[in-house]
Amino acid sequence: MVSFKELGLVNTREMFAKAIKGGYAIPAFNFNNMEQLQAIIKAAAETKSPVILQVSKGARNYANQTLLRYMAQGAVEYAKELGWEKPQIVLHLDHGDSFELCKSCVDFGFSSVMIDASHLPYEENIALTKKVVDYAHQFDVTVEAELGVLAGVEDEVSSAVSHYTKPEEVVDFATRTGCDSLAISIGTSHGAYKFTPEQCTRDPKTGKLVPPPLAFDVLDAVMEQLPGFPIVLHGSSSVPQEYVDMINSLGGKLPDAIGIPEEQLRKAAKSAVCKINIDSDSRLAFTAAVRKVLTEKPGEFDPRKYCGVARDFMEELYKHKIIDVLGSDGKA
Ligand code: G3H
Ligand code: 13P
Ligand code: ZN
Repeated sequence: MVSFKELGLVNTREMFAKAIKGGYAIPAFNFNNMEQLQAIIKAAAETKSPVILQVSKGARNYANQTLLRYMAQGAVEYAKELGWEKPQIVLHLDHGDSFELCKSCVDFGFSSVMIDASHLPYEENIALTKKVVDYAHQFDVTVEAELGVLAGVEDEVSSAVSHYTKPEEVVDFATRTGCDSLAISIGTSHGAYKFTPEQCTRDPKTGKLVPPPLAFDVLDAVMEQLPGFPIVLHGSSSVPQEYVDMINSLGGKLPDAIGIPEEQLRKAAKSAVCKINIDSDSRLAFTAAVRKVLTEKPGEFDPRKYCGVARDFMEELYKHKIIDVLGSDGKA
């Protein structure tokens, strides 16, 4: 048993309370490799932003859970080397799908876990979430749960349609499970294709797709039921057009890729939404950079040359999210 406190990590409790009061949101960035982690930590250290490092199922399969945990531990030391005296870094399990997995992360030094039982019937979601909460809270590890189902692909849980969170369920759910934060479904979804062209309108001037707005009425109703309770938004990449265009113009194929407009995320961050999950945007930045370098220098075969540029692109992206979208700069 390793406590996250020994590793210099923090849980989300105080971080979320401050974010709600301050009208900003904490960035939750997924990481799968060293370059992503370096870029996240550099961006957070330079902007003095609290940050959540997320480990998904895909990341565990790709990079190994043990290795990722030691990388996060190293990230705390790296942050200090960069001059961030008291780094505010959470290590979070993204979309945990079983009690055993959540327990193994708690035992191994994660400071926060998500139990995602949103695809189960309501009572089963409550029972599993409560089991994880009861275990995690013994060690001061905070727990995120989910009510409602996002469209798109959540790891291996696939849902073709989105089922918005039912505001009438949230008080019962939060009270009976004791969860520390709640991920809700208000129209966001995972990946780079968040809406079909049929769900969008077209800007008559540019011909570009304009996505439908998020269901802020559902968010408002949830906040009315649970005043001051930390709310989480998954699937919050905005799929920057500049990266999509760069990828497509350099031999890629991402037709009609579309995300959540950043103004809507900014609006959400000012409310009780205090954790915003971003993964796909980082993948797009990485891919755009690699395509650019390899196109411009076809003779390049040193991975540090293209992964280094990818790291710069991601750092820029993370800083932009922190400063211009989530407003968490200067809060750590
Ligand atoms: O929630 C989904 C995240 O983007 C992680 O996806 O399991 O492919 O790493 P992944
Ligand atoms: P995106 O695919 O929109 O980046 O969402 C990431 C996410 O929700 C991770 O849990
Ligand atoms: Zn997610």
